[in-house]
Amino acid sequence: MALDVGIDLGTDSVLVYVRNRGIVLKEPSLVAYDRSLEMIRGIGEEAYMLLTRGDANLVAIRPIRRGIIADYKMAEEMVRYFVTKAIGRRSILKPKICLSVPSGATQVETRAALEAGYSVGARDVELIEEPLAAAFGAGIDAGRPTGSVVVDIGAGKTDVGVVALGYPVIAKALRVAGDDFTEAIVDYVRRKYEVRISDQTAEEIKMQIGTVYPLVNDLTMTFTGRSLRTGMPEEIEISSEQTREALSESSRKIIDTVLSVLEQTPPELCADILQRGIILTGGGSRMRGMEQLIAAKTRIRTMTAGEPVRALALGIGKYLQNGRSGYLLPA
Ligand SMILES: Nc1ncnc2c1ncn2[C@@H]1O[C@H](COP(=O)(O)OP(=O)(O)OP(=O)(O)O)[C@@H](O)[C@H]1O
Ligand SMILES: [Mg+2]
Repeated sequence: MALDVGIDLGTDSVLVYVRNRGIVLKEPSLVAYDRSLEMIRGIGEEAYMLLTRGDANLVAIRPIRRGIIADYKMAEEMVRYFVTKAIGRRSILKPKICLSVPSGATQVETRAALEAGYSVGARDVELIEEPLAAAFGAGIDAGRPTGSVVVDIGAGKTDVGVVALGYPVIAKALRVAGDDFTEAIVDYVRRKYEVRISDQTAEEIKMQIGTVYPLVNDLTMTFTGRSLRTGMPEEIEISSEQTREALSESSRKIIDTVLSVLEQTPPELCADILQRGIILTGGGSRMRGMEQLIAAKTRIRTMTAGEPVRALALGIGKYLQNGRSGYLLPA
């Protein structure tokens, strides 16, 4: 039997699901390109390792931006590499490939995803809308008439959808997510202290003490940056409450999108939603305070899926496993 492969092609990471095996890999969505040799030197984990060694000829290419394919050629190479790694080069029967695409992807973007699948030699390529895959992955029976709200907060985009009967009834993607939180912390520190910090430091601050909702016990963290005035290293302390201030604009945009989707929800589904609540998926949903913030602003019970980072890939897998029961985007 041919292998069916599901791919969550994310801005930050790529997960590959193989039918009857489950998720077989999760690697950075990254290509290390050698400018002088004009060739790819590594993809995924390997690219990450090469790039951290600081070879001056290497540039980091992220083929996926804001959840969609931004660099066709590199995305194809990346998909080919991961599919080969997942099922082997000698797989005699061509695989069927299922890729997820964010809500509201344009025709050009959708076609790019299809082409990336076919370029790998797939016998068949199917696309699934991300809110639907996220709902399946979060364990919601999205094929039932009851409506559910799923909010997938990734690295580059947030996808909010109401799904019922295997369809995204309403869905909206926003180009704000986890990476914008990190960037907002870099900006905040620069404005407030005139100190420059790396994305890596900002990411650490975000993970360790960052919050989008007031904490009962404020946390603090000390870090080092470079003073923009003197050029010297400077040590600074930042509190959770300060990160909340830094993150407020990005989190407000996410809330506005959730509210606008809820406002457009057909009244017959509202009762279900009130009862079942809002489910969060994606790495960005692990942001401290996110559940509380969404619950407070929508007044709807909000929960994070059991495996938020793997939910989308698991959902694509369930879709593959159960055959063609779900919604297919027009190709
Ligand atoms: N504990 C955490 N707290 C805050 N943010 C987190 C945490 N864990 C992961 N993240 C953030 O989650 C993001 C990655 O999430 P995910 O893997 O779902 O993204 P992606 O699927 O690659 O991107 P997208 O869906 O936008 O294309 C990163 O921005 C990362 O910083
Ligand atoms: Mg994602």
